[in-house]
Amino acid sequence: MASVTSLSDSVQQHLASALSATLPEAAGADPLLRRSDRADFQANGILALAKKAKANPRELAAQVVSQVVTGDVIKDVEVSGPGFLNITIADKAITGNLAARYADEAGRLGVPLAAAPGTTVIDYAQPNVAKEMHVGHLRSAVIGDSVVQLLEFTGENVIRRHHIGDWGTQFGMLIQYLDEHPHELDHKASAKDTAASGEEAMSNLDRLYKAARKKFDSDEEFKTRARRRVVDLQAGDPRTLAIWQKFVDESKIYFFSVFEKLDMEIRDEDIVGESGYNDMLAETCRLLEESGVAVRSEGALCVFFDDIKGPDGNPVPLIVQKSDGGYGYAATDLSAIRDRVFNLKANTMVYVVDARQALHFKMVFETARRAGWLNEDVTAAQLAFGTVLGKDGKPFKTREGETVRLVDLLDEAVERASAVVREKAQDLSEEEIAERGAQVGIGAVKYADLSTSANRDYKFDLDQMVSLNGDTSVYLQYAYARIRSILRKAGEVRPVAHPELELAAAERALGLHADAFAETVAESAGEYAPHKLAAYLYQLASLYTTFYDKCPVLKAETPAQVENRLFLCDVTARTLHQGMALLGIRTPEKL
Ligand code: ARG
Repeated sequence: MASVTSLSDSVQQHLASALSATLPEAAGADPLLRRSDRADFQANGILALAKKAKANPRELAAQVVSQVVTGDVIKDVEVSGPGFLNITIADKAITGNLAARYADEAGRLGVPLAAAPGTTVIDYAQPNVAKEMHVGHLRSAVIGDSVVQLLEFTGENVIRRHHIGDWGTQFGMLIQYLDEHPHELDHKASAKDTAASGEEAMSNLDRLYKAARKKFDSDEEFKTRARRRVVDLQAGDPRTLAIWQKFVDESKIYFFSVFEKLDMEIRDEDIVGESGYNDMLAETCRLLEESGVAVRSEGALCVFFDDIKGPDGNPVPLIVQKSDGGYGYAATDLSAIRDRVFNLKANTMVYVVDARQALHFKMVFETARRAGWLNEDVTAAQLAFGTVLGKDGKPFKTREGETVRLVDLLDEAVERASAVVREKAQDLSEEEIAERGAQVGIGAVKYADLSTSANRDYKFDLDQMVSLNGDTSVYLQYAYARIRSILRKAGEVRPVAHPELELAAAERALGLHADAFAETVAESAGEYAPHKLAAYLYQLASLYTTFYDKCPVLKAETPAQVENRLFLCDVTARTLHQGMALLGIRTPEKL
């Protein structure tokens, strides 16, 4: 396996042995190493150790310095300030480490795979049947997809679950209406044209929903028939189920068209909606009631929490079964937990869901803990995301105050991006402009979502998203395309690492940052924090820009230097490409 030890890990090891040689009781202590502007790395951990050992920090630091083995990796180490260590890395170690990453045959840039991977279920991209997708569904899909990619890249066994809203009383009305108007879901568009069939599916569903609603509100007899349908559906009446299935199938045509537009792979077998747990609901309730976790209150089966109270001071329970015997969102989620823990053998469950559902998940997870389904080794957490805001800072709505259709938003992003691509395009055909426009536009939407920490709200501002300057995906995509163009221009001259060469400051900064890719991936995956990877990539592109301004590549002084700079270019390009892929964003070869 071609996993490469990062420079920061090597330095860490060097410092750890110097520390324990100086102060045996400090063995295992964290030297608190970080990248620094003053030197390549700075270690601040000695201050706390000196305090503990009642030693003078500068003296202790000086003793540690005398124990540090310098040479291959650490070129220089010195005491600074009150007892910090400033560490300079040898140029040949920087180039050498990157060369090892570059040589990784698996194309993983030396990023290690987990030694003992666990199983994580990620619950994301969960739209609702017969309903339009909106920006909230966008966030869940984009963040979830990136977390899936990140975890899989670290070797984790990932199970994807799309917990779509495909069950509930609202289906009674729809099913009854379709039964009475059987041709309402017929298609005209060719099934091959995903976008057109998706549009048609959604407009069919929308029309049908409105018509059914109208009838339901104005026709008492229809209302009665619709209510009877709910009972039939829950009882598993085959004819009712068959009509219900039509709604699910029609909705999937629409969902898949949106996911395709989002350039995201969603697999049918991973769609296990609320209906998928129907057979477990009664047993879930029985288990909770028998164990005393849930109690009957006014006929409903409830779980109470000391710290969860309504505005009137009365406790707000989680209702697992309503007094009329019906099951809701909580029963489904609790059953899904049992399935994920006991059938799928998950160690970890991550729910990528709007922060406004935080109370629901808090109660569901606590209930599952009390029932013994979750514990220290088997955990669940909500990866809660904030609200998408309009330019006015209020939740994103159309001028008429309606929710914005996700499809319209994506189309507009692609249109804007195509305009940007067209303006800059030098040797691109119309077809290429359309393709790149989609990659840039969708990339822009994803990046805007992923580059701020998920729990924060963010403004949906297309002008800013497709801007070439600043922290945008377009900036990163241009950096990548620019490197690829240099590599093409180099023709016969290939990138080759020359560790013997001295590096310029801009080369060292770029190289040290490129070497930190593995750590960044590990951190982003471990914390489910794609924004950390995004920030890293933006920094990488910025350092590359500085390097490119300061260090001529093809016109470098010696042939060896040309090769080495091409090598730095290529390492940067591969890192950008891999990193962007983990965010679900394409890096076109030409822009
Ligand atoms: N369908 C829900 C919605 O649109 C999200 C489902 C979240 N996942 C879950 N296991 N409850 O808000």
